[in-house]
Amino acid sequence: MEIVLEGPQEFTAKDGRRYVLREFKMADLNSVVSINRRVLPENYPEWFFVEHHMSFPKAFIVAEMDGELVGYMMNRVEYGWSYINKGKAAHKGHVVSIGVLPHARRLGIATNMMLRGMKAMKRFYDAEEVFLEVRVSNTPAISLYKKLGYEIAGRIPRYYSDGEDAYIMARTLADL
Ligand code: ACO
Ligand code: ZN
Repeated sequence: MEIVLEGPQEFTAKDGRRYVLREFKMADLNSVVSINRRVLPENYPEWFFVEHHMSFPKAFIVAEMDGELVGYMMNRVEYGWSYINKGKAAHKGHVVSIGVLPHARRLGIATNMMLRGMKAMKRFYDAEEVFLEVRVSNTPAISLYKKLGYEIAGRIPRYYSDGEDAYIMARTLADL
């Protein structure tokens, strides 16, 4: 299905359940903060979410199913050294945080949030490529990113506060 970048878009999941992807709005703040706390050890203060919403509103995506917020993807665009064209600078989309509640997983929700978020970063904020950090032990997320065409571009020792390393994964946005 072609991803829409303006307004809400309804999807039918593999199991027939329906969900909607749309932009984050301030009324979603508590739900997004609570999903983040439930699914990830990396937690952020409320202002951090608000800041991304204010700076990159078109690229902060949430997923709603049966009237409940079940997922979010929060992004920003930065300027710096490219992971794709080594030695050159680029506008880089940065997937800051993505999470889906356990009861809504393996339905394609993260995949579709990623597609919308990546396309929005390209279309609205001129991102030429996209990157993210992920725990080296996070097999589900690494599989998701590989399926979406990301490759491992580096490894940051002890990136996380508990001492675990991060992979940097990246892909071009030229084809999206
Ligand atoms: N094991 C193996 N492969 C998996 C798994 C898993 N548990 N979950 C997803 N995948 C792969 C599969 O290839 C899957 O396709 P398939 O279901 O047809 O086999 C593909 O990814 C797409 O899966 P989606 O259904 O789109 O992903 P989902 O909506 O379940 O969300 C996510 C994936 C976000 C990783 C979810 O498991 C989650 O919230 N995990 C905890 C939070 C987290 O780790 N977030 C990422 C941290 S890194 C960062 O934020 C930049
Ligand atoms: Zn990051």
